[in-house]
Order: sequence, then structure tokens, then C-alpha cells
Amino acid sequence: MENLPETKLQFPAGFLLGAASAAHQVEGNNIHSDWWEYEQKGRLPKSGEACDHYNRYEEDFGLAQEIGLNAMRISIEWARIEPEAGKWNAQAIEHYKKVLISMKEHGLTRVVTLWHWTLPKWFADQGGFENKQGVEAFARFAWFVAQNLGREIDLWITLNEPEVYVLSSYKQGVHPPFEKSIYLSWRVTENLIEAHKAAYKAIKEALGNVPVGLAKNSAYYAPYRKNNPADRLATYIARALDGYLLEKIQNQLDFIGLNYYFYNSIKFDWRTGYKEMNGNFNEAERTNKDMSEYSDMGWFLYPEGIYYVLKNLKKFHKPIYITENGLADSVDSRRPKFLRETFKALMNALKDGVDLKGYLHWTLTDNYEWHNGFGPRFGLIEMDYVSQQRKIRPSAAIFKEIKIS
Ligand code: FCB
Repeated sequence: MENLPETKLQFPAGFLLGAASAAHQVEGNNIHSDWWEYEQKGRLPKSGEACDHYNRYEEDFGLAQEIGLNAMRISIEWARIEPEAGKWNAQAIEHYKKVLISMKEHGLTRVVTLWHWTLPKWFADQGGFENKQGVEAFARFAWFVAQNLGREIDLWITLNEPEVYVLSSYKQGVHPPFEKSIYLSWRVTENLIEAHKAAYKAIKEALGNVPVGLAKNSAYYAPYRKNNPADRLATYIARALDGYLLEKIQNQLDFIGLNYYFYNSIKFDWRTGYKEMNGNFNEAERTNKDMSEYSDMGWFLYPEGIYYVLKNLKKFHKPIYITENGLADSVDSRRPKFLRETFKALMNALKDGVDLKGYLHWTLTDNYEWHNGFGPRFGLIEMDYVSQQRKIRPSAAIFKEIKIS
């Protein structure tokens, strides 16, 4: 582990310090979802039992507490709550009630996402968020969860990264339903915006004034050639476009959830306006790269970028929680430095007046990383998927150094 100069890590009273996860990635046997179906058809790696978190949640929250966390972000699986259209599963509700109570008993503030990319199979069969009816169905689900579990939820996140969903599922076609369509990308984006608004309204109707936000992925953008006016202009445009979603929903948003992972350098492109040269590299380049600056996914690590992204979000005048941030690092060689630098950047943002309320690391235990399967290791806790044993990684110790007062 690298020896860095000691900086006192200190956050204000009430600051949430935790980890984030998503149901399909950890629970296992999510059999009523669209993902599960494609997995069985061989189109995606199988998630199987994943981390068996569905049965081992007590152990996982115990570990979260042990490493010094005071909050957890989980997601509630729509496909479990509503396995058939309009048919609510009482057992699933009971299950999540126990999960949420267990979180509380382990001293964890409960941040809950309603939709983290997977869809009930029936909903996907009806066209998912491609259709306007999808908006209504999602709002009905939000209302149902609010009615039945609402008192056990502290912070609400309606949707996880709508733009990344659209990119993976409708532009690049690497996630279900594997489309590559500009038209559908636009339509799903607009419907997700409406879905957020409708869910926001439904939760407020059911529970009154509880905090409801959305998790938004934002990259740090920089010109590819520092002094090139075209690249600078293109960077300006990329940043402006990144604000589109939040601008649309800012009247139905109590806080911003920021997911920060990427450094994207922007190069002017005369055909498309600009091209994102996101510092990342591909598998073929891996062997002759110095990996200290990259995650196992090949993502360029730029922890201080979070400071600039936070400053940029100040214009919305909303409290901000980091709802995801982290890196795949199976040998835990870059995570310690990455965490320290991230915490320093957050402290600087606070000093500069950003209304930052919490930091949730991605993720607690290694888990099913979507179409990349179980390869990437993002966890503060290492998973042995054969024995289902968990082992705390050394970097997790940093969380205990943090003072909150
Ligand atoms: C985010 C996703 C999360 C996880 C991390 C690595 O975009 O929200 O589920 O896959 O990336």
C-alpha cells in the first residue's frame, strides 16, 4: 500500500458514509426479470446465485457496520414485488421489510433505489420504457412500495442512471433489449424523465414530504487538446448536454445523486460535433500499459475530477449525495490511493460551499457486473463465489479513519 501524507479525513455531522449496491447484481435468482431470461438464453453471463445477498443480507450489513459505514444504498427489485402485471407479491414485500429493518439495526441509513436497470419480464415484453404506459406502470410500482415499505426508507432514488441505461440498452445494444436505435434512445430518455416525475409525485402522495432524488452519472469533461478552440467548444457543449436531464426534472428533485466514474476527454469531430475519448483503453492495449492510473476495466482513474463535477452541479442549488463512485481493482492496489484522493476532493468541495451530504462507494461486495459478469471486482469486500465467503479488503480500513462531526 502506498504511503501518502496523512490528511485528516473529516466530514460534517450527519454525513452519510456508505456503500451502494443493486438487487440484480447481488441478490441471486432474480428469475422474473428480463435480464434473467436473456441470461438463460446465453445472451448474457449468468448471474445465478450472485452473492446470495437475498439470504445473506444480515451478514452483509454486519460487515458494512464492521468497516465503519453508517449508510447503505440498495435497490428493491420490481420483478420480485410485481412478478406479474398488477399482481403484488406479499412475500417479497415481507422480505424487503426485513431487509430494511436489518439495515436500521446495523446503524445504516437506508437509501433505496426503485429501478436499477432490470425490468420485470412482463413489463419488458410490453415494450418497457419505450411506451408511455411504462411510465404509469412504474409510478404504480413506486406508489405500492411507498405504501408498503415507505416508513422504512430514509432516502428515495427513483431511477439509476437513465442516460447510461439508454446508452447500453438502446445505443450500444450491449444490455437488454439490445437495440441500436437513435429514435428509441430519444423515446426511452423522454419516458424515463416522465417516469421519474410520476414516481416522485406518487411517493409524495403516499408519504408526504420525504426526500426523493435520482442517481445521475456525470463524467469529468476536458478538452482532448488543451489549447484547441474546437475541442474547448466541444467540451463546453458536452458539459451543457450533460445537464439536460437534471434541468428537465429540477422541479421534481429534492437532491441530486451523483455517480462519478469517468474522465472523458473531448475531441472535436466535424461529422458528429464531438467525440468522447474517455481516457479508457481496450483489452488489446492492456499488456503494455502502466496500470497504476487505470482500473481493471481499463477506466482512467481521475479521483480529483469529482471536485469539478460537484462544483458544476452547484448551479442546481440542491443537496448532493455521491450515490456511486469506485473502481474495479481485484488486488486492491489502486483503491487506497483512489479513496484518499476522492475524500480529499470531497473535503475541498465542501470547503467551497458544495452542499454535499454523503458518499456511497460502489460497492460493498464484489458482484455481477452486468454484461461483464463476475470478472470485475469493485468491492470493499472480496467475494469467493464458490464458498460465498466474504473477506474484507485492506482498503476498507480507510473508512474507519474518517471522523464525522
Ligand atoms: C454504474 C452502475 C452500477 C455498476 C457500476 C460499476 O454505472 O450503476 O450498477 O455497474 O456502474
